[in-house]
Amino acid sequence: MQVHVYDTEKQVSTAAAMLLAAQVIRKPDSVLGLATGSSPVGCYQQLIQWYRDGVLDFSKCISFNLDEYCGLPVEHECSYHAFMKEQLFDHINMKASYLPDGNAPDLQAECRRHDEAIRAAGGIDLQVLGIGRNGHIGFNEPANQLVYGTQIVRLTESTIQANRRFFDSEDAVPRQAISLGIGGIMSAREILLIAMGADKAQAIQETIMHDITPQVQASILRAHPHVTILLDKAAASRL
Ligand code: F6R
Repeated sequence: MQVHVYDTEKQVSTAAAMLLAAQVIRKPDSVLGLATGSSPVGCYQQLIQWYRDGVLDFSKCISFNLDEYCGLPVEHECSYHAFMKEQLFDHINMKASYLPDGNAPDLQAECRRHDEAIRAAGGIDLQVLGIGRNGHIGFNEPANQLVYGTQIVRLTESTIQANRRFFDSEDAVPRQAISLGIGGIMSAREILLIAMGADKAQAIQETIMHDITPQVQASILRAHPHVTILLDKAAASRL
C-alpha cells in the first residue's frame, strides 16, 4: 500500500487525476471504476480540464460506478446517475458509462448483472474509491463479514447522516443502496483511494494501522497488491 500525504485538497485531487490520466494514456481502452461523493470531485474537474486541453481522450474507455441508491429516480438530482453526468460524463467523451440500476424490478438479478457486465468488459483496471467515516468503501457498511458480489445494502445511521447534506431533509435520504461488493473492488487491478478532511482521519487510521476487519471494510485493501492512498493532512492526522 502506498500512502501519500498532501498539504491541500487541491493537491490530492491533482495527484489522483494524474494517476487516472496515466492509466488512460497507457491503456486508452481502460475500464475505469468510478465513485461519487465529494472526494473525487476535484479529480474529475482536473480530468475534464485535461480533456478540454486535448491531453486526454476517453473515447475508448468505459466506466462502471460503484453504487447507486435504491428507489431514487435516475433523474433525481441526488441520484448517482445525475451526479456522474453533472460532474464528469456530460463533459468528456467516455465511450460508455454504467451504473447499477437501483430501480431494477429484481434487485438481486441486477446485482448479478452488474458483476457480469464488469467481468464481460475484462475487469476493472483502476478503481477509484472514497471512504466513509465508518470505513465503508462503496456502500459496504461495517458488518460481521465481507460480501464478495454486488449487494443490496441498508445504509447505516452514520452514512445517512453524512449523505444528508445532499438532500432536502434526513427523511429524503434513501435507506437502501446497491453496491459493488468487496470482491468486485478487490478484483480491480489497481485501486486509488482518496480521503480528505478530519472526519476521515479515524477511518484512515483504522484502515492503514489496525487489523483487517469487516467492521472497517476498507481495511481489506491491505490485502490488495496495488493500492495507492492519497490523503490531505487532516485525513492523515492520526497516522
Ligand atoms: C460513493 C461511495 C462512497 C463514498 C464515501 C465517501 O460512490 O461509494 O463510499 O466514496 O461515502 O463520500 P465523500 O467523498 O462524499 O466523503
